[in-house]
Amino acid sequence: MTEKKAQLTIEGTDLAIDLPIRSGTVGPDVIDVGALTKNGFFTYDPGFVSTAACESSITYIDGGKGVLLHRGFPIDVLAENSSYLESCYLLLHGELPTAEQLEEFEGAITHHTMVHESIHQFFEGFHHNAHPMAKMCGAVGSLSAFYHDDLDITNEKHRITAAYRLVAKMPTLAAMCYKHHVGQPFLYPDNSLGYAENFLRMMFGTPCEEYKVNPVLAKAMDRIFLLHADHEQNASTSTVRLAGSSGANPYACIAAGIATLWGPAHGGANEAVLQMLEEIGDESNIDAYIAKAKDKNDPFRLMGFGHRVYKNFDPRAKVMKQTCGEVFAELGVENDPLLRIAKRLEQIALEDPYFVEKKLYPNVDFYSGIIMKAIGIPTEMFTVIFAVGRTVGWIAHWHEMISQGTRIGRPRQLYTGYDAREYVPVEKR
Ligand code: CMC
Repeated sequence: MTEKKAQLTIEGTDLAIDLPIRSGTVGPDVIDVGALTKNGFFTYDPGFVSTAACESSITYIDGGKGVLLHRGFPIDVLAENSSYLESCYLLLHGELPTAEQLEEFEGAITHHTMVHESIHQFFEGFHHNAHPMAKMCGAVGSLSAFYHDDLDITNEKHRITAAYRLVAKMPTLAAMCYKHHVGQPFLYPDNSLGYAENFLRMMFGTPCEEYKVNPVLAKAMDRIFLLHADHEQNASTSTVRLAGSSGANPYACIAAGIATLWGPAHGGANEAVLQMLEEIGDESNIDAYIAKAKDKNDPFRLMGFGHRVYKNFDPRAKVMKQTCGEVFAELGVENDPLLRIAKRLEQIALEDPYFVEKKLYPNVDFYSGIIMKAIGIPTEMFTVIFAVGRTVGWIAHWHEMISQGTRIGRPRQLYTGYDAREYVPVEKR
């Protein structure tokens, strides 16, 4: 079979550059532009809108159809039948675990949840009022100081141990960020509890009394983690890959991913959703905010709406919406004023021609924000929780990349600055 190729001709030259076309299992073909540089050209694609930066077999998204597959399994099927930890195993190892493998995996994660005692002192260096994402970034980066000298990233076993440690310790660190923020003592993990239950207990329990975890809320929390577990080559995952491509310590690479996730265009959107709902304040103000969102001269955007990849309903948002109903029913909070604004906003945006034509559907952050608010999680912890769930995706991509022996990531640029010019001594300027 002849190889499919594209040919690029350059106006004003007799150049005709052959570019091989590569096909994945599903999804669009990609044009391999590697030959361009030998001919003196680079591609220009700000925001990587048309650029595949790697080869991966972890997650597939078809944004037009609203499809998200992890290792071939649709996200709604995983949300319905699987648990966060089972999905972590799938993302890391490529296959669903057998009952025995799952038990072993859950045991391994449970027994890695404690963090080094020195990290307790590390937290003392933060101002109590610092944003929990700032603390999370620092605390996760600090793990690289504990696990560096004996970590050989070329050794698969070492990479898996790093992955297990990260998945296990993230809820502990996330809860520590919160406890430090509210001035309560840190709680050690309880090995008798499941992943999400343990997190809720470390967040809301105190050493003074027993904390009973509500199973509906634990299930919702597990789903939130599961629905955030991976999302292909998004900004934070690409950051982790780029940082990791230099051979850097994986815990430091994950801290870089956390920094990227923090922004309101990415993981920070769930926090921005609640801030927006508070700003709107009353259902009577909704129309004015919808008008602001549509006004080209106003930078305001409806937070929690739209997605770079999904031009159809985000499949994660569908599941999250269902979980939203379960949590509200359990807690009896349907009449919360902010939640009422959220529901009304969702309804208007789904019907308004501006949002319909631009295919701006509510995204996963819209619903996760309002669920977490109902559970009693403070707004500034929302992105931290996204980071807990996404850690497995970040580390699975890092693991895959290192296994592939990828070269260091090094994008090029279209230079628009000065050409070489003469230096003028300060006294002559
Ligand atoms: N409200 C109002 N208008 C919007 C919105 C919005 N939320 N999102 C996009 N638009 C408009 C935008 O003005 C543009 O209009 P036009 O074509 O007339 O210039 C058009 O829709 C396309 O927008 P874009 O900025 O070119 O799209 P993008 O792919 O670069 O951005 C996005 C995607 C998610 C950054 C953007 O939709 C947005 O800012 N949404 C709000 C923030 C948010 O909810 N982010 C969470 C994303 S999901 C979680 C994650 O993956 O991290």
